[in-house]
Amino acid sequence: MAQERSVVVGCGAYLPETIVTNTQLAERGVETSDEWIIQRTGIRQRHIAQAHETTSVLGTRAAQAALADAGLSPADIDLVICATSTPDHTFPSTATQIQAALGIEGGFAFDLQAVCAGFVYAVATADRYLRTGGAKRALVIGAETFSRILDWEDRTTCVLFGDGAGAIVLEARESPDQGTRADRGVLASCLRSDGRHRAKLYVDGGPGSTGTTGKLRMEGREVFRFAVGSVTDVIEEVFRATGTTAEDLSWFVPHQANRRIIEASADKLGIAREKVVLTVDRHGNTSAASIPLALNAARRDGRIREGDLVMIEAIGGGFTWGAALIRW
Ligand code: UT7
Repeated sequence: MAQERSVVVGCGAYLPETIVTNTQLAERGVETSDEWIIQRTGIRQRHIAQAHETTSVLGTRAAQAALADAGLSPADIDLVICATSTPDHTFPSTATQIQAALGIEGGFAFDLQAVCAGFVYAVATADRYLRTGGAKRALVIGAETFSRILDWEDRTTCVLFGDGAGAIVLEARESPDQGTRADRGVLASCLRSDGRHRAKLYVDGGPGSTGTTGKLRMEGREVFRFAVGSVTDVIEEVFRATGTTAEDLSWFVPHQANRRIIEASADKLGIAREKVVLTVDRHGNTSAASIPLALNAARRDGRIREGDLVMIEAIGGGFTWGAALIRW
């Protein structure tokens, strides 16, 4: 029986022009070194947004690039999901601001908040709308300005994050392969959360508590342990659901938080290192933007091609985590 699939028909990204290297952070007074940051995280530099570059500005640029890549116009889109934890305002949503900036007058738009796992959650959510006829074409965006919520006096967190945005366009298409794993599109996804871990990664403010925006706080070692120890469950679930294995993957595109976490996860799952897409060295941790930024980088340099099997995976504050398998 024919089945609807959510097929990736375009991707794009946008990074702020300003690049800050590890050495520049140290020169600006952060008690750190290029050597420490590279050794512990793999990060060499990050992009930092200027004051006028809000999350919706970055997200709009990424969405425009994705639409151009797809050969579509804004009027073709009837769903916009923006995964972000750094919205321009408490409300209205950043997604509606992007919708307006793009000139989309129909359909619907909303933000999705699952911190660094936001893009995987957004892909899984858009996939449900598209496969059940709730929308025809979705812009799925990850956009963040984490530099705004960093405590620049806290060297254990401020060296890790950067700003940026990435986007894909998903289109509902009837699969000619009768719902098998040979189909193009999102083949399966698995989402999890466990709110008991709140204190390990959170922002110490909010509109309903302190009335302030707050700053990011993290017990890095605890997050590291959880990321390597527990998060592979969602990937194994997606392998099981699709009857695929690590060998079948063309590319593994995980959330880009730390090179050591990424490589340890790949090793644990038996995913060959040459299949791992790494951008953390250039972008730092851009939270919900990191996966679409990495997808776009690997698409632009010719690694990801039509028909490739791509696993995306992330963990974020909450904790929230998830994985999705996409045939490009
Ligand atoms: O995207 C959301 C998920 N977030 C993550 O995935 C982050 C997960 N955690 C990590 O990536 C790592 O835990 C970090 C990169 C944050 C830290 O690496 P670590 O190997 O766990 O280092 P540590 O926290 O055990 O710190 C080791 C030492 C400490 O000094 P002492 O106590 O051994 O004297 C820190 O004070 O490194 C010190 N340190 C630094 N030194 C120079 C911590 N931050 C810095 C710094 N520069 N920026």
